[in-house]
Amino acid sequence: MTKRELAPAGLRHIAVVMDGNGRWATRRLLPRTAGHKYGVDALKSTVRGCIAQGVPYLTVFAFSSENWNRPADEVRALMDLFVQALRRETRELAAQGVRLRFVGDREAFEPPMRELMQQAQDLTAANTTLVLNVALNYGGRWDIVQAMRALQASGGPITEQTLAQHLCLADMPAPDLLIRTGGERRISNFLLWQIAYTEFYFTDALWPDFDEKALALAIADYAQRERRFGSVPPQPEAQATGLRVA
Ligand code: IPE
Ligand code: IPE
Ligand code: MG
Repeated sequence: MTKRELAPAGLRHIAVVMDGNGRWATRRLLPRTAGHKYGVDALKSTVRGCIAQGVPYLTVFAFSSENWNRPADEVRALMDLFVQALRRETRELAAQGVRLRFVGDREAFEPPMRELMQQAQDLTAANTTLVLNVALNYGGRWDIVQAMRALQASGGPITEQTLAQHLCLADMPAPDLLIRTGGERRISNFLLWQIAYTEFYFTDALWPDFDEKALALAIADYAQRERRFGSVPPQPEAQATGLRVA
């Protein structure tokens, strides 16, 4: 996309379950890990799309707390890929005005990776064009439990507002649009609390095939939605002014 198009009004935060890398590779008779590698390019294109369309927040699911259950060699390859991507891409993302943030339990990662994550966050901390949250070892249930623990430790009252303040992504608007590629129609323990009123967009496209154009289609679909948040759509004039029956 060369021209800067503005996202529909109210679209501030897109969340993505980047699914289908393994199938993409298997269809090409490649090892599953090749799909993960091409997935990095799809993410770069999606980032460019968000910037072009003026979307200020993007949250992507890169590794779930359940993905540790995969074969050890795939987990190893994914960790190596994360380290490689952090080394190779941080500078370019920084130059694009991207602020990188990581959400999830970092304790499980090896120290060199944790260090790279911290460095990437520090290097990009002042950027404001796009906040890119990368969910790594993230689970929606974990998020709620860690928030609950923090709230309990603070001794404060338990309300929806106080709990929400301790969740990951507390300092940004909730996702307006959640995209899942790869044809599955489920959340797989991604954001749970935060998607209470999010619009869902499912596509059969496998993640390595996703790009700026596919993002534009998802955004165009979102633009047709009517969000009601439990209320009613704006009423026609006569009703709104209280037309009497008798
Ligand atoms: C998503 O693609 C990437 C990760 C979960 C890390 P998959 O690896 O789940 O690909 P499929 O769903 O098996 O095709
Ligand atoms: C969700 O995809 C996790 C990520 C995309 C990182 P999965 O491939 O792990 O989800 P399931 O197993 O199909 O539900
Ligand atoms: Mg999958």
